[in-house]
Amino acid sequence: MRIAVYGGSFNPPHDGHVEAAKIAVKELQADRLIIIPAARPPHKEQAEGSPSAPERLELARLAFGPLANAEVSDIEIQRGGISYTVDTLEELKRIYPDDELVLLIGTDMLMSFESWKNYRRIFELSSLAAFPRKHDEVTEIRKLRSYFAEKYGATIYEIGLIPTEVTSTDLRSMFRNRDGNNLLPRGVYSEIIRNRWYGAQPNLEWLRENSFIYLDEKRIPHVKGCEQEAVRLAERWGADRGLAAEAGILHDITKKLNGPEQLILCEEYGIITDVDEKRNSKLLHSKTGAAFARDKFGICDEVYSAIWWHTTGRENMTLLEKIIYIADYIEPTRVFEGVDELRRLAYDDIDSALIKGLQMSIEELERRDYVPHMNSVNALNWLMEHKKDKKPQGGE
Ligand SMILES: [Fe+2]
Ligand SMILES: [Fe+2]
Repeated sequence: MRIAVYGGSFNPPHDGHVEAAKIAVKELQADRLIIIPAARPPHKEQAEGSPSAPERLELARLAFGPLANAEVSDIEIQRGGISYTVDTLEELKRIYPDDELVLLIGTDMLMSFESWKNYRRIFELSSLAAFPRKHDEVTEIRKLRSYFAEKYGATIYEIGLIPTEVTSTDLRSMFRNRDGNNLLPRGVYSEIIRNRWYGAQPNLEWLRENSFIYLDEKRIPHVKGCEQEAVRLAERWGADRGLAAEAGILHDITKKLNGPEQLILCEEYGIITDVDEKRNSKLLHSKTGAAFARDKFGICDEVYSAIWWHTTGRENMTLLEKIIYIADYIEPTRVFEGVDELRRLAYDDIDSALIKGLQMSIEELERRDYVPHMNSVNALNWLMEHKKDKKPQGGE
């Protein structure tokens, strides 16, 4: 049996890795593929915010799991310490004494091969298969092939060009810029965002696609409107546009759930509910929404609290909380008497817009015989107090 062995940091595993593995298995006609994430690769520091070794193992399982005859092995992670290939091959040879092991490596690795620990022993334990990423690497590989064959009697196979558009290093900086989602195997990007590894910020198109599945179809225009409005308000008032967009996209994520379902989520996330919320379970979607959004999409505290307070407001609201509260109120699909005045005010003096919005919703609740939530009353009083001490903002 011929076994292809593919080791690396896989930090994170991406489409280029999976493609390389597929091509190698096919060209080598390998019967089996073993993927081995390194515990600690030699001469390589892990990038900041990287997942732990067991977490990288799980990512590799998500990435390579769907490949036929592939296995993601934890032998290097179990062994711990610096992961030297020679130790791994010794271990594999003990498990597969009669089989041919073929170690897959990139051209750059082949070039520095004589600096690897015990590389002569590697040649005894396995064959090598080198895959070029660019055309000029093909010539390089051919030269090295005959050099290693002559000098050490090594067997080195040559694999066709691997179309790798991106490296893990490129990807990590793409993640920080809300990009890179299309270059990863299914499930890997979700996990990166859920855990916010590498300082990743979600791609907004991806976030819409993956969060709108929780919404009633009829609510989608409202949510899209809220996102647009929140981004415009963030630009006007100097808040982070990306965080405003995230909060807008996610603010009603649990709105579809009914009262008992809301209470189940409260239980699950350890959310303590008050009397008003028990009476009017509609209010709960902001709290469950914040917790659910954090669970699924790893939102930061700022976005979490903007979602948490978006139905009632509160004393000492942050700028992002104000933006989401008011964006929810005035987004383009909203139609009610006074909305245009509120829209004008939101861009002129956001605190006055909040005061007006809170007054209107408190009046509306009273008209329908609901007791306004204490937090809304507190928010209103706090804003009025605050306004007295402050010169008016903006102006015409
Ligand atoms: Fe809402
Ligand atoms: Fe909403």
